[in-house]
Amino acid sequence: MSFFVTTPIYYVNGAPHLGHAYTTIAADVLARHHRQRGEDVFFLTGTDEHGEPIALAAEKQGKSPQALADENAERFKALAPQLAATNDFFIRTTDPEHKAAVQEILTRVKENGFVELGHWEGLYCPRCADFKGADEIEEGDRCAIHHIELTRESEENWFFKLSAFQERLEALYAEQPEFVLPKERRNEALAFIESGLRDISLSRGAKLQWGVQVPWDPEHVFYVWFDALLNYATALTYAKPGEDLTAEFWPADVHIVGKDILKFHCVYWPALLMAAGMEVPRHVLVHGYLLMNAEKMSKSLGNVLDPFTIIERFGIDALRFYLLRDVQFGGDGEVSAEAFEQRYESELANDLGNLASRVSAMVVKYRDGAVPATDALDLTADFDGLPETVAAHLDRGELTQGLEQIWQRVRRLNRYVEEQAPWKLAKDDALGAQLDTALATLIEGLRTVTVLLAAYLPQTSSTLLAALGTKEDGWEAASFGAGPRVAQVEKLAPLFPKHDPAAA
Ligand code: MSP
Repeated sequence: MSFFVTTPIYYVNGAPHLGHAYTTIAADVLARHHRQRGEDVFFLTGTDEHGEPIALAAEKQGKSPQALADENAERFKALAPQLAATNDFFIRTTDPEHKAAVQEILTRVKENGFVELGHWEGLYCPRCADFKGADEIEEGDRCAIHHIELTRESEENWFFKLSAFQERLEALYAEQPEFVLPKERRNEALAFIESGLRDISLSRGAKLQWGVQVPWDPEHVFYVWFDALLNYATALTYAKPGEDLTAEFWPADVHIVGKDILKFHCVYWPALLMAAGMEVPRHVLVHGYLLMNAEKMSKSLGNVLDPFTIIERFGIDALRFYLLRDVQFGGDGEVSAEAFEQRYESELANDLGNLASRVSAMVVKYRDGAVPATDALDLTADFDGLPETVAAHLDRGELTQGLEQIWQRVRRLNRYVEEQAPWKLAKDDALGAQLDTALATLIEGLRTVTVLLAAYLPQTSSTLLAALGTKEDGWEAASFGAGPRVAQVEKLAPLFPKHDPAAA
């Protein structure tokens, strides 16, 4: 079985920030989870390098667009491993293979009869690279996302006949109710379609040269969104030298995108694929905004929280955990340094870190590190069906709920420590069997949550698994009482050391 997951490709008009890290982390959780399930995974990310957003930023900085793109593409490339993201390829839309494939696919779209010359006049946001409809415009003709004044544009150019796909898109939404997740975003996309689709610009005229040339009209370049969306398909044709991965991985299983680019992915993209005679993706998973003081973080707004600083001080797992736990995936959520430190202390250091060190210390103290090999385990009912529940949440794009399910068991194990009070059992030889059961249950519970957490907290999980002396981290090892049993443990160093703010 194969699984293809993508992030949006990031604009190279500035440096990466927490908002970009968020999308990449979410995609990585799904990629890792599906690998755990034994699937053949392809995880794609990269950079979107053409169009006005980049041309304008380069001009401001007195650089060529290519120089700016090269500089920032490197920073995005470097971000992925720092997030512990396991992408299989990093696409740049300036790759010659991508450009040639875009020309080839869009020529096919024209041959299929979905491209025509037309005239357009209206308001345009150069930061979004988007032509705005009435409901996307704020007072004073401003962009509802960037709050900058929109420009009035009028041009002759090539159009994609989006309107021809009205019925086919409505049918897609009816036949695949989970095409867009979560449901609220699906309804939003469907409402947009039902409000009536108009044709959209496929090319930009002589004013903009920074893009992929239109092969049948070399004065024009393709409108950046067409070039960008196609990355998901073109990447498969050249990611692996000498091999075309399309047959194995197309259609994509999940495109993860922020809500600001919903229209492009949920409406334009499937229509474009239909026009090219290609299969549409199985799911588009839409997340909300990370907000700081109720404003979306973005390069253009300047209110960014630096992921690199957080990673350096607290480690990548802490950032991954915080973003997926504190903000309900799919909705918007405030993020702050205070909330981050609070979660780090109370949940990572206390709930999980203390559980691991207490449990291993007790086995060392009372049984010389040898885990009792009893089959009489408690808590089986609490863990029953857990891997299936977590997988079902992840299949619906409910990353926060999946993590919550696991965390409830972390908390259950902590309560169990208090209920059993192994330090009391250890005082009475007659209670030896009960102590064996308690210790074996705790170790098995810890092992199970560690396997389940591998997609969310990859570094912590691999440290813990090593301490538990097992390498088995596949999904079949996630069942309580049914996976490999731990034989021996050693005392653990704290997983999440107390952070000294003075050292920052
Ligand atoms: N280049 C386009 C995407 C093309 S995909 C074919 C683009 N790039 S972007 O760099 O502006 O944004 C990329 C992703 O980062 C989007 O999913 C966007 O929603 C996400 N985020 C940017 N700022 C964000 C927040 N403050 N919060 C959450 N996600 C945010 O759009």
